[in-house]
Amino acid sequence: MRIDIISATPEVLESPLNHSIIKRAKEKGLAKIFIHDLREYGMGNYRQIDDTPFGGGAGMVLMIEPISKCIEGLKNQRLYDEIIYMTPDAKTLTQPISNALSLKKNILILAGHYKGVDQRVRDKYITKEISIGDYVLTGGELAAAILTDSIVRLIPGVIGDETSALTDSFQDNLLSPPIYTRPSDFKGMKVPNILLSGNFPKIDEWRSEKAFERTQQIRPDLLDEPSK
Ligand code: ADE
Repeated sequence: MRIDIISATPEVLESPLNHSIIKRAKEKGLAKIFIHDLREYGMGNYRQIDDTPFGGGAGMVLMIEPISKCIEGLKNQRLYDEIIYMTPDAKTLTQPISNALSLKKNILILAGHYKGVDQRVRDKYITKEISIGDYVLTGGELAAAILTDSIVRLIPGVIGDETSALTDSFQDNLLSPPIYTRPSDFKGMKVPNILLSGNFPKIDEWRSEKAFERTQQIRPDLLDEPSK
């Protein structure tokens, strides 16, 4: 799978997308991630990429021309399954959205300024708009990194243990059950006996129960949603 990300501050994306599992996915050739510096498509000597909003108001708005040049150039080279704009005024990212995106071949992500982009960019190019939550970040870069991470880890072969991505919280509308590792006794804090029993059907049953209990306590809203 290939993911292209357009950003006015590409440095912000470098670190989150060059470590651990994402790094390994890239090294294995399972994910190709390219970051495009919007500034390189900027207007005039100063490589301008944003301007004040028509009608007044605070903040700067990303202009359509640099974005158009960048997107058109990329679209000329390949077909994109989705062109996604990261913005707080959109539907919130959920696991089913990441699941669906992980099956695509080419995805283009536009990270916006906090004030946003010219509406015509959204009207002309964007096929999907995604927010990572009901709060406002200074830019869409961290949101784009989060979306990319959530997609790439689902690509088959990226996570060593094939089943582990599928048993994550949210995959079945349930939060994860508690997990433990060595030591089995830390200063009197003991790991539940069942997990040491070797009785795997019973362990599965215990985990399901705990997952349900946790969801009921912390996110009862998830239990009302239809299963995916
Ligand atoms: N850009 C700024 N805030 C954002 C958010 N919550 N989600 C996606 N993109 C954003």
